[in-house]
Amino acid sequence: MGEKDKWIVKCPKCGRINQSCQHVSRQDVERIVQLLKAGVEVYESEEEMEHLEEHLHERPDRGKLYALVQPRFDLDDVVMSPKTKEAIDDALVEIRHKGLIFQRWGMRKVIRKNKGLSLLFAGPPGTGKTMTAEGIARVLQKPLMIVNYAQLENMWVGETEKNIEAVFQEAAKNGAVLFFDEADAVFHRRGMTLAPWTNRDVNVLLNHLENHAGVCILATNLARVMDRALDRRIDIAVEFEMPEADARKEIWRKLVPKEAPMGRDVDLDALAKKYALSGGSILNVVRQAMRSSLKRGKRHRITQDDFVKAAEREMKKSDLMSRDHMSTWKVEPRQRLGGYA
Ligand SMILES: Nc1ncnc2c1ncn2[C@@H]1O[C@H](COP(=O)(O)OP(=O)(O)OP(=O)(O)O)[C@@H](O)[C@H]1O
Ligand SMILES: [Mg+2]
Repeated sequence: MGEKDKWIVKCPKCGRINQSCQHVSRQDVERIVQLLKAGVEVYESEEEMEHLEEHLHERPDRGKLYALVQPRFDLDDVVMSPKTKEAIDDALVEIRHKGLIFQRWGMRKVIRKNKGLSLLFAGPPGTGKTMTAEGIARVLQKPLMIVNYAQLENMWVGETEKNIEAVFQEAAKNGAVLFFDEADAVFHRRGMTLAPWTNRDVNVLLNHLENHAGVCILATNLARVMDRALDRRIDIAVEFEMPEADARKEIWRKLVPKEAPMGRDVDLDALAKKYALSGGSILNVVRQAMRSSLKRGKRHRITQDDFVKAAEREMKKSDLMSRDHMSTWKVEPRQRLGGYA
């Protein structure tokens, strides 16, 4: 029996099954089978493949309580203000010397348990909170466990509590850094009527947070609406601010890849100075400028005009968003703030 007969082959052109035709020869089939056996995967373009890879880092599926992701960023990738950096350094010192503080320096006797570290990252969108959480997990060589609130919450009495328990248990089992993104959804002020979580569930969560031996990071855009009881359980609060002009310069340099074909007129420093955008928004601008340039053709360079148009667009978007949701953040009267993308 020839190789061709072992495999059922359907020709896409003439529709013949299980026999050679003028479009697919026996050699073709043999070669394809060989490659498939060797594990070859085929994507139409590089972009398509990247897209597939990206899914590894995506948010958790609806069906799961959490997603375990391998951190992509180093802490060095994040441009931080001195204040933010200092707070992160505090966290790292404690994480690295936990043994010393708790055993040798006796903190264990004072706290009476093997306390983990809980961090609150507060700041406007796109200022590097998620990135920094990944960076911390990476320093620790641990996976980051991103919690899916929608799944934690369950309409059946007692189920939410079980889900919360499961999440903390899994984090301990995997030695993962636990990450509650948009933590305000859960840790709202108790008693606030619109809140989706019951007080009991929030208490359960706070309790676990207090007793968890690993690192737990909560991120929020709205630190002010967070439960006061949370304050006591947070060991280090880290503020992420909208970047100043100098920080923006650094962010632009980090986010425009060296490989990108830049026009001679491009002046990233001027863009950094003019547009008060967050890192997340700068990333959007860079991608939009690339798209505009590509529309002219692959061989064209990205011009300053591409960047300016994209930045203007991003500023408008940010203005709109900030009017709707972000009125609680202090905005300098004459400075237009962008970045709420
Ligand atoms: N400080 C920064 N330094 C370097 N890059 C940054 C910085 N802030 C944001 N970025 C870029 O923007 C992207 C989005 O940032 P990130 O997801 O960390 O923001 P975030 O604070 O978690 O926002 P959100 O509150 O919307 O979740 C990053 O992947 C990175 O490319
Ligand atoms: Mg985030």
